[in-house]
Amino acid sequence: MRIVVVMDPVETVHFEKDTSFALMLAAQGRKHEVFHCLLRDLYLEQGRLYAQARPATMQLQLAQPIMLGERLELCLHEVDAVLVRKDPPFESDYLWATQMLERLRGDTLVMNDARGLRDANEKLYACNFPELMPRTLVASDRERIRAFVASVGGRAVIKPLSGARGEGVFVLANTDFNFNAIVEGQTLSGRRVAMVQEFLPAIHSEGDKRVLVIGGEPLGALLRVPASGDVRSNLAAGGSAVQTGVSEAERKLIETLKPKLLADGLYFVGIDLIGGKLTEVNVTSPTGIQQMSRMDGVPYAEQVVAWIERRLAA
Ligand SMILES: Nc1ncnc2c1ncn2[C@@H]1O[C@H](COP(=O)(O)OP(=O)(O)O)[C@@H](O)[C@H]1O
Ligand SMILES: [Mg+2]
Repeated sequence: MRIVVVMDPVETVHFEKDTSFALMLAAQGRKHEVFHCLLRDLYLEQGRLYAQARPATMQLQLAQPIMLGERLELCLHEVDAVLVRKDPPFESDYLWATQMLERLRGDTLVMNDARGLRDANEKLYACNFPELMPRTLVASDRERIRAFVASVGGRAVIKPLSGARGEGVFVLANTDFNFNAIVEGQTLSGRRVAMVQEFLPAIHSEGDKRVLVIGGEPLGALLRVPASGDVRSNLAAGGSAVQTGVSEAERKLIETLKPKLLADGLYFVGIDLIGGKLTEVNVTSPTGIQQMSRMDGVPYAEQVVAWIERRLAA
C-alpha cells in the first residue's frame, strides 16, 4: 500500500511517545510505502487532490525518528490511504483541509473520514450519548453555569470546547472567590460557550481511562493518573500512564457508540472515560498506543495497520 500521513512537522515527533510515529513504523514494517506531508502541502487542481509529499523512513531513535526523502507530487486519488493525524487546534486551515479531502470520497480511504473530522468536536461529540456522559452543560451564561454547578453538588469542571492536552481545564467550585473570573475567562465574558461538567471524584481514585477504538472495536486501554496537586491527567500535562484493561461495561459502552462512529467514518478514535462515564471522543489524532503496547506487550500499531489492510481488501 501507499499511505500518506497528513500531520505536524516531523521535528515534533518523539519515537517513544508518538502514536503517528508508531503507526508509520508499523506500516513500514508491513512493507508499505509511507509518505509525510503537512496541511499546507495539500493542493486541489481542477477538482483533483494532490500532495507535495516526501517519502518517510522510520527508525527507533531520538535524533531523527522520521527521515524524509525528496519531495514528490502525489495524486491522492491514486494512493491507498490517507491518515489525517494533525494535532489540535482545529483552525480554518484544518477545516479547509477536511473540505479538500472530501474530494477523495469513493477513491481513497481517509482515516478518519474528512466529514467526520469536521463534524465531530471532540467534547461535543460525546453529547450525542447523554446517557453515557456525566451531567454536562454547554453554555455561555454565567448565572446558568452557577445554577448548574449548584445542581451537581457545588463542584464541577469547566473546559474550553477547543481545548486539548488538558489546556484550560479548571475545577469550578460554588464557594470559590474566583468563580466569576474563571467563568468570564472561559466564556470570553459570555460571548462563547464552554463545557461545564459534574466533577467526577474517580479522577483522583482511579484516573482517566483512554480506550483506543479501531473500526468500532476496542483495541487497548490505559489509565492516566493526574500528578499530585493537579486534576488533569493528560500525559502532556504531567499525568502518568498505568496499565489497565477494558471492562465488560466499557465494552458495552463502546458497542453503543459503534454504529455512529462507523457511520461518521471515525475509524480510529480515543475514548476517554472517568469513573465509567464518557467525557471525550478524540478523533483528530488520538494518542497512547505506544504506552499501551509497552504495558500490555501487544503490537497495537500493527493491529491498526492490519485493520486498514483488511478494510482496503474488502
Ligand atoms: N468531569 C470531570 N471530572 C473530573 N476531572 C475531569 C473532568 N473532566 C475533565 N477532567 C480532567 O481534565 C482532563 C482533561 O479533560 P478532557 O475533557 O479530557 O479535555 P482534554 O483532554 O481535551 O484537554 C481529564 O483527563 C481529567 O483529568
Ligand atoms: Mg482528554
